[in-house]
Amino acid sequence: MNDASVARALSSTTLFQPSAAPADAILDYGYFVIAIVAVIGLLVGGLILFTVIRFRHRPGDDLREPPQVYGSNQLELAWTLVPVLIIVILGLVTARNIWDLQAPAQREGALRIAVTGHQWWWEFEYPAEGFVTANELHVPVGTRVALDLGSADVIHSFWIPELAGKMDLVPGRHNEMWFEAARPGVFVGQCAEYCGTQHAHMLLRVIVETPEDFAAWVAHQQREALVLAAHVEGRQIFESTACVNCHTIRGTGAEGRFGPDLTHLMSRATIASGAATNDLDHLVDWITSPDHIKPGALMPAMKLDEQRIHLVAEYLHSLR
Ligand code: CUA
Repeated sequence: MNDASVARALSSTTLFQPSAAPADAILDYGYFVIAIVAVIGLLVGGLILFTVIRFRHRPGDDLREPPQVYGSNQLELAWTLVPVLIIVILGLVTARNIWDLQAPAQREGALRIAVTGHQWWWEFEYPAEGFVTANELHVPVGTRVALDLGSADVIHSFWIPELAGKMDLVPGRHNEMWFEAARPGVFVGQCAEYCGTQHAHMLLRVIVETPEDFAAWVAHQQREALVLAAHVEGRQIFESTACVNCHTIRGTGAEGRFGPDLTHLMSRATIASGAATNDLDHLVDWITSPDHIKPGALMPAMKLDEQRIHLVAEYLHSLR
């Protein structure tokens, strides 16, 4: 993906163009609620406006109070029962929607992906397919996808407005959500629960692709990392520094789980959870000083000399 399509993808977060179930059902429900409260708003606003104009003070008015009405059973019943009825209708429709969306049957036979929120990035594990990736979720179009949501540290929230509603990732708790995308494309979202310094840069992107493209992507992700002769030195530096404590590169000695899996790093369009495009310059910048791209990032500056940083960056840049 090139810079232009990255920028284009970033400009499309809207609730009003659902591209998947259940985002479409949620929008329909939203319109239903807006319609009811709009009628109430117009009615109340209209009555206030009418009263203000009709009964405004005019020159020559006497200043006595008009006749007062006390204890009208009809009026009291009307303004008690009508709001109760409206609340009951809204409540029932809401309950029915939640019941429908959260029914276990919705997730039966779905492609399951485990999502773990970290400060400040997303981990995506495809358990049946046997690999882990980060920040960019790939799913096939027209296929039911079920997400198992958990957190490694604090509360995060997974939200892609065009695909589905919001769901929190809570430490020590298992939450679930599902969606089924209706068209291919790149859908962006954002962590929607304040989770620390870089909450605003905990971006999400979901790449919805054709079943063939998805199968090819899966087959590629399942492979171990390539070792190119040209990057052996960079790999050795990577394997002999603290990098391996946090990152996994399958096929090497690096098996850390604290940071993103880097096995196929260059298959992703961005680094640092969408904070920068994934290219050699940004990789060098990131390894030199993560704070430069993402102040407060939990990855430390690697304190290597410039030449070694370039060797590591070039090695990572070869992980297609
Ligand atoms: Cu993670 Cu906000």
